Amino acid sequence: MSIEELLAARLRPAFDQVAGGSADPAVRRSQHADYQADGALALARGLGRAPREVAAEVVARADLAGLADLEVVGPGFINITVQTSALHSLLLQMYADSRHGVPAVPSPQTVIVDYSGPNVAKEMHVGHLRSTVIGDAIVRLLEFQGHHVTRVNHLGDWGTPFGMLIEHLLDIGEQEAAHELSVGDLTGFYQAARQKFDGDPDFKRRAQLRVVALQTGDATTRRLWRLLVDESEKYFLSVYSTLDVTLSAADFHGESSYNDELADVVDELSALGLLRESDGALCAFPAGFTGRDGAPMPVIVRKEDGGYNYSATDLAALRRRCRAYDRAVYVVGTPQKQHFAMVFAVGEAAGWVRPGQVEHVAFGSILGADGKMLKTRAGDSVKLSALLDEAVARAAVLAGSEDVAHAVGIGAVKYADLSADRVKDYVFAWDRALSLTGDSGAYLQYAYARIQSLLAKGGEYTPGFSLASPAERALALQLLGFPAAVAAAADALQPHRLTGYLQALGSAYTTFYETCPVLRAPSADIRDGRLGLADLTGRVLTLGLSLLGIRTPTPL
Ligand code: ARG
Repeated sequence: MSIEELLAARLRPAFDQVAGGSADPAVRRSQHADYQADGALALARGLGRAPREVAAEVVARADLAGLADLEVVGPGFINITVQTSALHSLLLQMYADSRHGVPAVPSPQTVIVDYSGPNVAKEMHVGHLRSTVIGDAIVRLLEFQGHHVTRVNHLGDWGTPFGMLIEHLLDIGEQEAAHELSVGDLTGFYQAARQKFDGDPDFKRRAQLRVVALQTGDATTRRLWRLLVDESEKYFLSVYSTLDVTLSAADFHGESSYNDELADVVDELSALGLLRESDGALCAFPAGFTGRDGAPMPVIVRKEDGGYNYSATDLAALRRRCRAYDRAVYVVGTPQKQHFAMVFAVGEAAGWVRPGQVEHVAFGSILGADGKMLKTRAGDSVKLSALLDEAVARAAVLAGSEDVAHAVGIGAVKYADLSADRVKDYVFAWDRALSLTGDSGAYLQYAYARIQSLLAKGGEYTPGFSLASPAERALALQLLGFPAAVAAAADALQPHRLTGYLQALGSAYTTFYETCPVLRAPSADIRDGRLGLADLTGRVLTLGLSLLGIRTPTPL
């Protein structure tokens, strides 16, 4: 139980008595005391009584003996000061618990999380980076809460471009193609195919025939297609390993894996009367979606030529996921907001989706220092692997070894991505991402490394917590806020709530360290009590960062 919950649980009986029913104490951190309970204001309104009087009655009835002292202030707030002995025992409990106070959820769910989703024979772009990094943090948070999480990498591995890609593969030879793709020259490969497709009518014809051969299951064509997919998957896996992302080969579940279900999806939707023909295509028109002209907007389920598209595949995926999981989460950029809203609406009309079962976790773009979409100096879109290489190279200046440079460089990129409110666009700047003083991953990794060297110098000590000075108390209260921060980040699927917490923890620690000498403390007890605070801070930093997929190397 978090400290807020503990305080609320102890206050609730008094609130309920005064309310003659149930009333929320509304406990939160406070500028004026350790915590405050604001519930008397709403309760007084409901009862038609004076708020201060209601607050005083709550305080008179409340029993927080051994935990906290209460005081009515202002128009009817209740200030809460946690007793030092209670703080001490809460910290000891938190220290002894390997989860540092974060409870496992009482009823775990099966959750499927769709993230990363790059496209075969195409370079991953920064949108895929965000999906990969945010999705992986969400997976880690939910798993830590005890949910049963399935990762799914909805690879773009099907569609008309494969005709030209396979013909290009045949032109340059299998070995050369495999080589280009495995070293990550996906853009070069794709563009070469595209150029021939656009400029060479004979190639174009071959490519079109090849699409038909692929769709009808021609063995050679399928084998060549598989080669493209396999080589691309190998490359994506190498990016995941660079990124310290938990996606594995078993999680690839590309668009093509729904092929056999598409006709049945069409049958089911049409039996339900949800499909209409429009310009030869079969379409669903979910309620509430209209274009600028006010005309209903279609989800094309089967194209005029009988083929299927991205939406059809997503409908099949949705049906399968809703049958098999309590909850389905899609970590995909904001530009696909309408696509998912419409696909989900069709799924609801078909009775596949229960209320609250599916969620599009959208995110904005990464902008360069100029406020425009991140571009290289030459004006090209940034290649993901180049961005990551640059991160590691820049971090090498701060780091003592290759391993550490990797942890700091990759951590910087991931932290920058996770610390921004995901729905907004954010500006990426190297100096901020790698700053040792600001809101950065490097700052927290550095704080962690400093704590470890302090503990090494301190040697053996009897765990305890020194809580006499304001900086020590402030650090203690910040530490105790960890479970609530994890819950906030996991419940809203917003990793930035956890980075915000860790940043505040880093700064509470810095203030403590600057004002409270540890190794030269006035007594052995105080020294031990300060080492205890430093130790617990280090443990919370490393656990918190690990839930975001960021490492804490030592020494830095
Ligand atoms: N491959 C897609 C893209 O690059 C992302 C897939 C997202 N997942 C999904 N179920 N549609 O835009």
